[in-house]
Formats: sequence, C-alpha cells, structure tokens
Amino acid sequence: MKITTIILAAGKGTRMHSALPKVLHKIANKSLLRHVYDMCSQLENHDIKIVYGHGAELVRESLTDLQAAWIEQKQQLGTGHAVQQVSDQIADDDVVLILYGDVPLLKLSTVKALLANVNPQSMGLLTVELDNPTGYGRIVRNSVGQVVKIVEEKDASVSEKHIHEVNTGIMAMYGGKLKKWLERLTNNNSQSEYYLTDVIEMAVMEGVDIVTGQPETAEEVLGVNNRIQLSQLERAYQQEQANFIMARGVTLKDPLRFDLRGSIASLGQDIEIDINVILEGKVSIGNNVIIGSNTVIKNSIIGDHVEILANCVIEDVVIGRGSRIGPYARLRPETVLGEDVHIGNFVEIKKSSIAKGSKVNHLSYIGDAVVGSNVNIGAGTITCNYDGANKFGTIIEDGAFIGSDTQLVAPVVVGKNATIGAGSTVTKDAPGNQLTLSRVKQVSIAGWQRPVKREK
Ligand code: UD1
Ligand code: CA
Repeated sequence: MKITTIILAAGKGTRMHSALPKVLHKIANKSLLRHVYDMCSQLENHDIKIVYGHGAELVRESLTDLQAAWIEQKQQLGTGHAVQQVSDQIADDDVVLILYGDVPLLKLSTVKALLANVNPQSMGLLTVELDNPTGYGRIVRNSVGQVVKIVEEKDASVSEKHIHEVNTGIMAMYGGKLKKWLERLTNNNSQSEYYLTDVIEMAVMEGVDIVTGQPETAEEVLGVNNRIQLSQLERAYQQEQANFIMARGVTLKDPLRFDLRGSIASLGQDIEIDINVILEGKVSIGNNVIIGSNTVIKNSIIGDHVEILANCVIEDVVIGRGSRIGPYARLRPETVLGEDVHIGNFVEIKKSSIAKGSKVNHLSYIGDAVVGSNVNIGAGTITCNYDGANKFGTIIEDGAFIGSDTQLVAPVVVGKNATIGAGSTVTKDAPGNQLTLSRVKQVSIAGWQRPVKREK
C-alpha cells in the first residue's frame, strides 16, 4: 500500500502576530513543519505533499531540503479547499493521510495505528476528549456510538457544543473515495469555507465506517495558534525528552529546567545535570559526567568523568576523559581537549588542541594554537593570533610553562619544557628547556618622592 501524506501548512497564523509564517515558528529550535515532516517521513512507501500559501517564499526557502512536493494554495478557502489542490496528484488506490503543519508533536505510533484502520470499507479519524473543546470541530455520534458527522464550533447547536470529543483534523482514507468527496464539498456554512470535515458525513452516507482512534496524550494533537500554545508545546516536548534521558540513567536536578534542542548522539550512565542546562545540535556525553548549572553545550563530544562547572558555553568541541572545565569558560568551535585538561574561569579557547594534563586555569585567550601535554599556561596569557588581516598559529610544546600575563605573538613556537617569564611579549620562537623573557629590567629609585598636589 502506498501512502500519500498531505501536510496542510497554508494558514496565516494571524494570532501569532509575527512576520514569520506560523509553521516556521520553532519548538526545540526546529520549525513546526519540520517536526511534522521528520515524523511522517519515517513511514515506508510514502510520498509527502505540502500545501503552502501564506509566506510562500519564506516557507519554501527555509525548508528546501525536504523530500516533498510543494503545492501552493493561493487563497486559503478552507481545509477542504487545501486538500483539493492536491487532488490530481492522488491515485485512487493511495492511502491518503492528512496532517497539519501546525500540530508538531504527533507521534509516529499514533499515525500508524490510524493507518491500520484504513481499508476500502473504512477510514481512520483521530479524535480527542478535551476538558475545554471550545474552537474545535465536535464529533457527533448516533445512539449506538457511530460517528455521523463533524460539526464546526461556529456551526454547532447548543447541545453539540456540549460534546467534548473533538476533531484533531488528522484522518486517513483511500484516495479514490477522498477525491470523489472533495468534488462535492460546498461552502454553505457560517465561515463560507470548504470544510474537509464535511467528508465525514459523505463517508457515512456511503456506508464507509469511521474508525476513530485517540492519541496517547492530548499534547500530540494540539495545534499552535498563538505564542502561549507554542510555549506550552515547547514545555510538553521538553518534559518528554527529559523523561527519556532520565529513563536512560541521567540525573536531572530539575527536569523543568532542562532543554534539549537537538539530539543526543550517545549517552553514558550516571550523568548529573544541574539546572538551566541547554544541549543543542548533536551532543554525546560519556559516563560519570557532571554538568553544572547555566551551561550551554552545542554539537560536542564530552568524554567520561568530565566535570563542567557552572556557566560555561561550549560549541563544536571534543573534551577528553577526566577534564575539568569552568566555571565561566567559553570553548569555541574546533577545540579539542585531551585527557585531564583543566580549563578554568574566564578562559576562551578557539580552534585549538590542548593535550593531556595541560592547564589553562585563569583569564586567558588561546586561539589557533596547538598545545602539547603537561603545559601550564599562567593567568592572563593571550595568543595574539590576528594581525587585523590574517590569523596565525601558536605552537606550545610539551611541558612548557607560560608565566602569567604573557602575550604570544603568532606565528610563534614555544619549545619543549621552555619557561616564559611572567609579563613577556614573545615575538620570536622560544627555545626548549630555556627561560625566555622580554621584560624590561626592574629598577628601584632610592629617595624618590611622590608628587604633591599643587596649591591653587
Ligand atoms: C480545523 C477543523 C476542526 C478541528 C481543528 C483542529 C475543519 C473545517 N475544521 O479547524 O474540525 O477541530 O482543525 O485543530 O477542517 N489550512 C490550509 N488552508 C486553508 C485553511 C487551513 O492549509 O485554506 C491549514 C492551516 O494552515 C492549519 C490547518 O489547515 O494547519 C487547520 O486550519 P485551521 O484554520 O486552523 O482550522 P480550524 O478552524 O482550527
Ligand atoms: Ca486551528
């Protein structure tokens, strides 16, 4: 059986009050439409059609990598009208699945269960019981519980408004049937729109069974219409991810203050994550790792027994086993730290490798450098890697000791076991095993008097 999924994404999203089309707003740093796409693209033997309209250019430009056919709905005349735009691309024996671009948390398992209800005599409809059904289409059933029709809030009678079972909009049926029903839609209703929901009554008239299914949780089928709902779904999504990683052996000091905006490539055991930690992109974390509060880690690999203290920002970095980072450290892209490296407070490392056992503990900038093992870089050391036009590298070989407040003017090499005296400006290579210093000789002037304030 071939499945054609139609994702409806043409709506304006007026209540977002945004220049950005609604489906491009994000949950966990991924657009609503991409959430829907990523979920349904896991279906086999499957084609995806996206009906877009409002903010057309922006939507297509931001999602050029999607393997989908884009169908423009120039005027938004209703959900039925939106699906009609795809009619001529649907084969009679396709199973058509209707999804919404602004319902981002729907699960694959729910969709599969819905599809299992589709056969030539029946179609699947996803419904949900809501405490407050206001605004949704209501599911009207007969005395023996069979679905008879869907009535929109604005067209509902007083008694129909009391129904708590609502239409999620998500449904699946054979293409041949759907196409026939779409042709017969009219806009004789309070909104003068072509309602997709009217196909339900047509199906019933034809003797097609409406098999309803429910999602595991209501969040799965909630749509985003405003920024309050966007934030609610963001939290629901984050809570679910927090539960997932806790189930795999991570201690979260507070799951409500943890955010994963991407994916975890691999996860060890006995990881402890303090509050307000954000993981972005693809992150791998080894065993026995501690991550302090207010830390952001993006696209990085953290080895076993690493301790990251509070308030660090780490991006595109590899951190070797047993290293200790922070507090207040910034590790920038293309930084590779070996085992047992210590990076302390107010230290910035960019595009540098630092080998086993080396320490940069205080107030330093290390950029475009290759640092060997067991090197000690004193407080306030700066690699001057940029002359205003080009970047240059610094090499610091094994066992070197860089005194505090040193400037290493690149390109420059500090040899093995070299010592640099504090306060030096190193402009030429410093040989191994020697003391290099560029300090002005210290003098003391005996009998020197401090200036005194002049009388006015
Ligand atoms: C629709 C359903 C309602 C259901 C609710 C669930 C109809 C007539 N009503 O109502 O029963 O309870 O969803 O959220 O189907 N869209 C287009 N083109 C259009 C109109 C809409 O692509 O011309 C898209 C929107 O971008 C959105 C989806 O279809 O993703 C739903 O549209 P919306 O206007 O929000 O429908 P509701 O009135 O909420
Ligand atoms: Ca809606």
